[in-house]
Amino acid sequence: MKKRRHRADGERMNKPLDVEVHALQIAVEVAAAWRTRIAPRGPAIPLGVVATIAAGGLLVDRPDHLAKVMMSASPGDFVGIARGVWGEVFARRPDLAQWAYLLLDWLYGETDERLRRRIKRTAEAALRAGQLELTTGRRRFTCDLLGPVLAALRSRPGLKVDTRMYAPSPTAWKLTAVSLRDLEPGRLFRDDAVGTGGLFRATAEVVRCQGLDPADMRWFGADSDELAVAATAINALIWELGPEVFFYAGDVRAFPHWPDEAERQRAWFLEQVGSVNEAMALLDYLKEF
Ligand SMILES: C[S@@+](CC[C@H](N)C(=O)[O-])C[C@H]1O[C@@H](n2cnc3c(N)ncnc32)[C@H](O)[C@@H]1O
Repeated sequence: MKKRRHRADGERMNKPLDVEVHALQIAVEVAAAWRTRIAPRGPAIPLGVVATIAAGGLLVDRPDHLAKVMMSASPGDFVGIARGVWGEVFARRPDLAQWAYLLLDWLYGETDERLRRRIKRTAEAALRAGQLELTTGRRRFTCDLLGPVLAALRSRPGLKVDTRMYAPSPTAWKLTAVSLRDLEPGRLFRDDAVGTGGLFRATAEVVRCQGLDPADMRWFGADSDELAVAATAINALIWELGPEVFFYAGDVRAFPHWPDEAERQRAWFLEQVGSVNEAMALLDYLKEF
């Protein structure tokens, strides 16, 4: 098999028009850039890098400018930019920190120069593959990038990415469009095997098509895979599901009353972080969490 070659800085990539194909292409590039033979590591950090770029893109008017700043930053400065991004996000949405922190220990834990370079290389791969075109603007409502990224990071090198665990957008759309009638604000949506939120995304699309705002709905998602739950929390931000989002990580068969627990855990978390009124201090607080 031919050895994979990383693209040099500035080298252009053809970006597909189809959002699903584009998401998969980004996922493959991110996984290839992250992988090294000598220091295997789980998918949390690179998933967090993609989440950071997505969150940063939502904060700025000029995502192209952000891409340039991130691309030209040193590895250490990139981590600094990422801290700034999450400081802003958590200042607005402290509830999301309850799950996002699982992807962000490189912001508040110890990182050596080699890891910082690996993080930066991964960010460059995502940016070069056009991530910000997919996770900003209206395009961001049309697909799930984090699902394929998680699947690619978990796939064995050289094998096809196994995305069977996540519902592709057209399938999710068909499943939800036929079942959603008489929608009104305050409606509760529950997914006991939420994955990275594919059905939530499709539901939000149907809600918008009916002239309503997904942010006026309530969303409850559970999964035994806590990284998938963390990804859904980031997706809730990307898809603008609003403030009423509740997540649970665990086996739903063993704990069928998980929505009550999800509400309780979120309230507890917000109470804990309520006393941490400075966004950067919140990142330091999460270090001890
Ligand atoms: C087909 S995927 C989810 C698809 C997702 N609803 C979507 O829209 O893309 C199945 C998910 O169920 C989760 N799962 C399987 N058994 C579970 C259990 N007992 N409790 C919670 N989650 C479970 C898996 O971790 C996996 O993420």
